[in-house]
Amino acid sequence: MPETITITDDRTGKTVTVPIEGGVFPSSALRELDPNLYCYDPAYLSTASCKSEITYLDGGAGILRYRGYPIEQLAEKSTYLEVAYLLLHGELPTTAELEQWVFDVTHHTFIHENMRKRFVDGFHYDAHPMGMFVSALAALGTFYDDSKEIDDPEARRFQTLRLIAKAPTIAAMCYRFSVGLPFNQPDNDLSYPANFLNMMWKIGEYEVDPILERAMDVLFILHADHEQNCGTTAMRVIGSSQADPYSSAAGAASALYGPLHGGANEAVVRMLTEIGSIDQVPAFIESVKTGEDRLMGFGHRVYKSYDPRATIIKATADDVFTVTGKNPLLDIALALEEVALSDSYFVDRNLYPNVDFYSGLIYQAMGFPVDMFTVLFGIPRMSGWLAHWEESLNDSAQKISRPRQWYDGPDERDYVAITDR
Ligand code: CMC
Repeated sequence: MPETITITDDRTGKTVTVPIEGGVFPSSALRELDPNLYCYDPAYLSTASCKSEITYLDGGAGILRYRGYPIEQLAEKSTYLEVAYLLLHGELPTTAELEQWVFDVTHHTFIHENMRKRFVDGFHYDAHPMGMFVSALAALGTFYDDSKEIDDPEARRFQTLRLIAKAPTIAAMCYRFSVGLPFNQPDNDLSYPANFLNMMWKIGEYEVDPILERAMDVLFILHADHEQNCGTTAMRVIGSSQADPYSSAAGAASALYGPLHGGANEAVVRMLTEIGSIDQVPAFIESVKTGEDRLMGFGHRVYKSYDPRATIIKATADDVFTVTGKNPLLDIALALEEVALSDSYFVDRNLYPNVDFYSGLIYQAMGFPVDMFTVLFGIPRMSGWLAHWEESLNDSAQKISRPRQWYDGPDERDYVAITDR
């Protein structure tokens, strides 16, 4: 069978044959037929916007791999910082490389005092931490002279280190401000997840529980990348204009903020709280089927089977609950999942739990307020965003992102004076 596709323009009879590689054919074939012919593809359902070597996702089979390594193996054997290195460099680090990388990240965790005193302190007392996180990322870039030197690989390396190292510091700072607690400085003797938990929770004596430290690291690994999702696409699109990575990351974080994307973990816990008890589950399922409600944490543009991250998160939840006690919303979540997985509405549409269905329950059991959930997603996604940013800058096929449109508005008409309308 030839691995090609032939397209005929019936208006002119012109034909073009182009190769299919990896299930993709170049849309430039259309321009060969007619330079003014475009694909209409709202929400990019049929568009591959780039070539990427970072993350492989098979939505039908429920497979997720970073640089070829199955997510299950990384979640079991690796650490978030090692995974971040893998995403950015393409290979797992040697012992020496990992030591240097961990040292470098650990020694870039502090932020300029003005970020807290002038910038964060300017927010209203009940500002949403995710709104603060988004703005703080953009503001951070203004502290570095070299932030715009995106053509210099060494400058890019520094921005990458800074953003990965400072994301937890900014996140914890936003939380401590929102509850009126003094900010805890980073502690360079702690691991990446332990340092974050310490900055979040330390009041007087505080020691990070190793089970919670590991759970945080696993959650960071699971959220580190997910190929061309809405936030990562925003990162690439903004980066394509040669904006600095802080502004691009702020744009990516803004996309993540929405309830259909990273905001879903927050929406899941709000939904479970509203359902309130197991006996309300059937009524809620009915309201989803009539379109009145949406089952948050279910469904995915790419996964048409169980999200592999949800399986790992479910197991992580069991570990966390041994320390924190069971989240009372878990039983409602399990009942919802059981009903949904046997109901034809969900089965026919291939709607399964996604990464956000159980993650919020863990976060809540660990003491995080729901407002912080999407921030917890944004901290590790930073490494994925930056890996894609770096890849796109080195991709000679990329240019400034600039889709075309299908104009469907009025034809030319004359201006009408306001008195005549
Ligand atoms: N509850 C009820 N019905 C749903 C749901 C849901 N969660 N998700 C999809 N459907 C229905 C949808 O109404 C449509 O039905 P019909 O064919 O009758 O019109 C069908 O399933 C196909 O859905 P779609 O909206 O065309 O699918 P999509 O690929 O555009 O949307 C999604 C994907 C993730 C936005 C959507 O499934 C959703 O809104 N899920 C809830 C929010 C959520 O959990 N988001 C987190 C996604 S994973 C993490 C991340 O990306 O950050």
